[in-house]
Amino acid sequence: MSSSSAITADVRPYVELLTEARARTLLLISRLSEEDLRKQHDKLMSPVLWDLGHISQFEQLWLLRNTDGPIEFVEMPGMYNPFEHPRATRDKLPLPGIQAMLDEMATGRRDVLERLATADLDWSHPLLQDGYLFRMVAQHEYQHNETILQTLKLKQGEPYHPPRAMGAPAGRPVGSERDGMVRFPGGEVVIGTADRSEAYDNERGEHDVELEPFWIDATPVTSGAFLEFMREGGYARREHWSGAGWIWLQGARVEAPQHWERDGDDWRIRSFDRIEPVSPDHPVCHVCYHEAEAYARWAGKRLPTEHEWEAAASWDPVAERKRKYPWGDEPPTALNANLDQLTFSTAPVGAYPRNLSPIGCYGMVGDVWEWTSSDFAGYPGFESFPYPEYSEAFFGPDYKVLRGGSWATRHGAVRNTFRNWDYPVRRQIYSGFRCARSDG
Ligand code: AVJ
Ligand code: FE
Repeated sequence: MSSSSAITADVRPYVELLTEARARTLLLISRLSEEDLRKQHDKLMSPVLWDLGHISQFEQLWLLRNTDGPIEFVEMPGMYNPFEHPRATRDKLPLPGIQAMLDEMATGRRDVLERLATADLDWSHPLLQDGYLFRMVAQHEYQHNETILQTLKLKQGEPYHPPRAMGAPAGRPVGSERDGMVRFPGGEVVIGTADRSEAYDNERGEHDVELEPFWIDATPVTSGAFLEFMREGGYARREHWSGAGWIWLQGARVEAPQHWERDGDDWRIRSFDRIEPVSPDHPVCHVCYHEAEAYARWAGKRLPTEHEWEAAASWDPVAERKRKYPWGDEPPTALNANLDQLTFSTAPVGAYPRNLSPIGCYGMVGDVWEWTSSDFAGYPGFESFPYPEYSEAFFGPDYKVLRGGSWATRHGAVRNTFRNWDYPVRRQIYSGFRCARSDG
């Protein structure tokens, strides 16, 4: 993708972006032993060493090979190709030791920076325009950070000691119109985005959707509320569960969210190196889609569609304008949302009073990913960009969409239009939910 085009770019912000992403990755793994980096802590997850190699290979694939000469999209090579090597098999790969891995990552990065400083890149190409490729590579590293944190939460034996840098603020009561819910008036809303500087292909195109009026919870469902569901036999009563949900439950034989443990008649939650009583005012975390759906039925509600979720997070029905984040277009900071990992925990609902959407929903971004009732599918006119294996390969009824990011999501990897997806049985992810109800 070299050319003699007159368009040049100041690459310093992109160098900073990549440097900062790597510093965080290294911070997260800095206290882990070689053994813990190599070990498969759970069959659903990769060895952390694999994530590291994959992060570096992805960066080199896109910032070296795919920008070198005519674009020729090549597959991720060898060991670090996720499709060739399912997660459960990755501990059998000849992964290098940590020092060799860190050296490889540093060498790869040095080559990238050298190329950036010397190559004559075609900045008008859609891949490079507005720095898209750098945000794509950074977002990929951010996403694998969250994956690593899921893995480390599953670690047995000596727990992971997170580099906690800040505590979450205290919770406060939040306002809501009725029964903890707020109303969306319905009407035409804008879903998705036309952005090409950071949004993924699955967030485009921007399109109008007509919504019926609906009600939606002003906060995510809390652990306290979920405990009520449990105490009323939520996990034992067939009528709350869908057919698929009930089948999952019979196989999984669980009676609480993942990482919850019995403590006499009470429950406690294990979170890395802490075991604490259930905090009733925190969003419930580590529930699968089926558990979320069962709770919603028990509560006489339902899960929101992803259109409803996005409207409740982003649409200002008075100004008829869409916000990039619930609070506005300004990027997240440590003051407006529980994002970016360093709390290593959920926060009580209402702890971030600025994290308020136009219609009055708190915490739609941060704390926990929120399950929606929607299958993952392309928006009208979807075009794969720049490669089908990020989004398109996963379109279909097997995956449900989650929205809003969690405390383990970095600032640059979430916005109102961001779509995450996973199987409805997954709960090692930082997933919670809020409920909706049709009007009337
Ligand atoms: C968007 C979180 C579902 O982890 O499978 C990382 C992100 N894609 N590398 C995943 C991703 C390629 C993806 N999720
Ligand atoms: Fe990846």
